[in-house]
Amino acid sequence: MLPVVGADLQVPVVTGGTVRYANLDYAASAPALESVEEHLSQVLPYYASVHRGAGYASQVSTALLERARATVGRFLGARAGDVVVFTRNTTDALNLLAGCLPQWGDVVFLDAEHHANLLPWQRGEHRYVPVRGSLDATLQSLESALRERPAALVAITGASNVTGEELPIERVVAIAHRHGARVVVDAAQLAPHRRIDLDATGVDYVALSGHKLYAPYGTGVLVGRRDWLDRGTPYLAGGGAVRSVELERTEWACAPQRHEGGTPNMLGAAALAASCEALAALPEAALEVHEAALRERLVHGLAQLPGVRVHRIFDDAPSSIGVVTFTVDGVDPGLVAAYLSAEHGIGVRDGKFCAHPLLARLGLDAGAVRASVGVGSQTDDVDRLVAALASLIETGPAWQYASVEGRWTPTPDPRPLPRWATGAGDLGASPCTPEAR
Ligand code: ALA
Repeated sequence: MLPVVGADLQVPVVTGGTVRYANLDYAASAPALESVEEHLSQVLPYYASVHRGAGYASQVSTALLERARATVGRFLGARAGDVVVFTRNTTDALNLLAGCLPQWGDVVFLDAEHHANLLPWQRGEHRYVPVRGSLDATLQSLESALRERPAALVAITGASNVTGEELPIERVVAIAHRHGARVVVDAAQLAPHRRIDLDATGVDYVALSGHKLYAPYGTGVLVGRRDWLDRGTPYLAGGGAVRSVELERTEWACAPQRHEGGTPNMLGAAALAASCEALAALPEAALEVHEAALRERLVHGLAQLPGVRVHRIFDDAPSSIGVVTFTVDGVDPGLVAAYLSAEHGIGVRDGKFCAHPLLARLGLDAGAVRASVGVGSQTDDVDRLVAALASLIETGPAWQYASVEGRWTPTPDPRPLPRWATGAGDLGASPCTPEAR
């Protein structure tokens, strides 16, 4: 529904030849929009220092960064006085917010969160609320927890990165605000599928990643209320984040500069803004309709396959984004994913999706397989996945696979990587110092 870079990518399969890559892994990293790539080609010649140069190109670059800030803020319904801080991604944004919390209360979150919305809070005062079989019951537990003891912040995902189920953000805001807590929404998954409006919903902070929002150029964002961000610990101490510096004393700037030390990623911010503009220009509900059709087709197809189970948290979630997690009885999820890639050119994610507590709660200790769709997905991608799984269940893989260092791998694997992607050394794999384990 929106052209993406790589839509016609051909990838090799182990049985010989190439096929069009069926990218069903948008939830991990989505491809760039063509309009984003075009915008970057347009601005790249002007790339120069931001907020630091008198040259014309520097002025253009500075203007582009600040224009991107305004565009992203508008896209997210930022209120007058809200702050837009550019970060690397959602994880970065939530870690930043964790350093800005007031001292008077803890952080409450559900045990269904992605690690990005769990580990930053684990480092400070926190409580978690176990999810229950229904959203209604889970929200009652959340309210009881807040009634028992006030919290500073409720940290909640907008949509599960595992099951795709949406959380009722406005109900969470009403509960949290009734008990004096603010709300941060981890919108990494929700934002590529649904519009989020801070002003209309009352959400206090929102965090998201460009790499899931069709702008994979290294920028994410934290948007929300200024007071905590102005008083919080500067996230990246360095040039640009200060008003004045002496050798033993620094006067820090207010947000957003306070948290954006060092040269900002102007191209990443421009990419994110271009993507927000393209999504905002889509006709009302077009995205929802496109993805709902694909999701329904996928869930219906999987339901026809013996031994395939689709997993969910709640029995009453009213809607879900285009993310579906499933298992195939008797087949390791890693083997399913390796088979789909090697024999069919289909990209999915397998494992525990950086949501270990949720996978444990769902009884998926061996992990699962996740298929996810977005603006560049086609019905053919979904149909190919269902057909490939049917063939796996009926006749098994056509190739041999073995678990190598914990990953299922075709043996042999005759698919060469492009020459320009080879040559990895072992610097990233050198052993951890024993005392750090
Ligand atoms: N958080 C990303 C995912 O769910 C990486 O796949």
